[in-house]
Amino acid sequence: VTPTEIEVRLAPPYRVRVGPGALAGLAEAAAPFARCAVLTDATVESLHGAALGELRGAPRLALDPGEASKDLNGLGSVLDFLAEAGLERGSLLITFGGGVVSDLGGLAASLYMRGIAVVHCPTTLLAQVDAALGGKTAVNLRAGKNLAGTFHQPRAVLADTSLLATLSDDEFRSGLGEVVKSALLGAQDLFALLEREHARVRSRDAQVLEQVVAACVRLKAEVVAGDERDEGSRRALNLGHTFAHAIERVAGYGRVPHGVAVAVGLMLALRSAELLDRLEDTGLTARVESLLGRLGLPRSLGALRAASGCALAAEELIAAMQHDKKNRGGSPLFVLPRSLGRTALDVAVPPAILIAAVRCQTP
Ligand code: GLY
Repeated sequence: VTPTEIEVRLAPPYRVRVGPGALAGLAEAAAPFARCAVLTDATVESLHGAALGELRGAPRLALDPGEASKDLNGLGSVLDFLAEAGLERGSLLITFGGGVVSDLGGLAASLYMRGIAVVHCPTTLLAQVDAALGGKTAVNLRAGKNLAGTFHQPRAVLADTSLLATLSDDEFRSGLGEVVKSALLGAQDLFALLEREHARVRSRDAQVLEQVVAACVRLKAEVVAGDERDEGSRRALNLGHTFAHAIERVAGYGRVPHGVAVAVGLMLALRSAELLDRLEDTGLTARVESLLGRLGLPRSLGALRAASGCALAAEELIAAMQHDKKNRGGSPLFVLPRSLGRTALDVAVPPAILIAAVRCQTP
């Protein structure tokens, strides 16, 4: 079976291969480079190390799985590893893992010898549809998540959907939150596909997953090609994220998976748009709510409170939104949906509306 190929039209352009067996293209992607090294995590290495094929023999660093590796200490360890592996200016770093590995590896690649090539092989649904694509790299600082980073586009992305079979249900669901965001942003035919095939998505049917990931990749490739540096239209990708970041922060990082917080953030963005009378498609909220439920995601803040055991008090969520890194001049600006495929950027939402949106959640 031939994987789906999608081009990201930047200078230079690069290819994203999506589908079961996409990793078979790794040797070809690495062929122009005399030296390569692999950054992975211990879980991915033990489950899927064999999928690296002939690259198994390359110097390899396996991080401790989890967000704790994604800090300045972790960055130092990766840079030292690249030096010890003898990588030169014209060498390649291959990342093989979830968003932590691609964010941290991408940053290390952009700094080592002032920038070497990187190829991402994302192994989680979240990384395949979002993190590994588009060139954003980052580590967390004490002050918050993703506060230090660069833009460094990969040479290629290989999203092998057969690796998704071993994800935990929590990790898989988290990826689905970003998938629904892509659907709401207008990824071609994705919303209808998810509504029709929700059962096959949840059972991780290989064919449906390839279509789902490919639709998200096409949308993100197009958005990133139009605004590589996140100065305008790319900000649409933050739909639901100001709410989601507040939920993750108030719950305590690691308690609510990112994409699950995004799912609830999408509902809060829809409610806010409704309250501001900016939602043109008035049936959209009910459609998204029903889809989230079918995909096993929380359909409201109340449902998330019940599922996570986190209090998520309205006042604390609103205070946390004042700290979002997307803010300018101290007040939070939101991406709000208008209809399927259309959003309004940089909307200032008055506190009274935020409180009403956060409170109008039913359990
Ligand atoms: N994850 C949002 C972006 O890549 O712009």
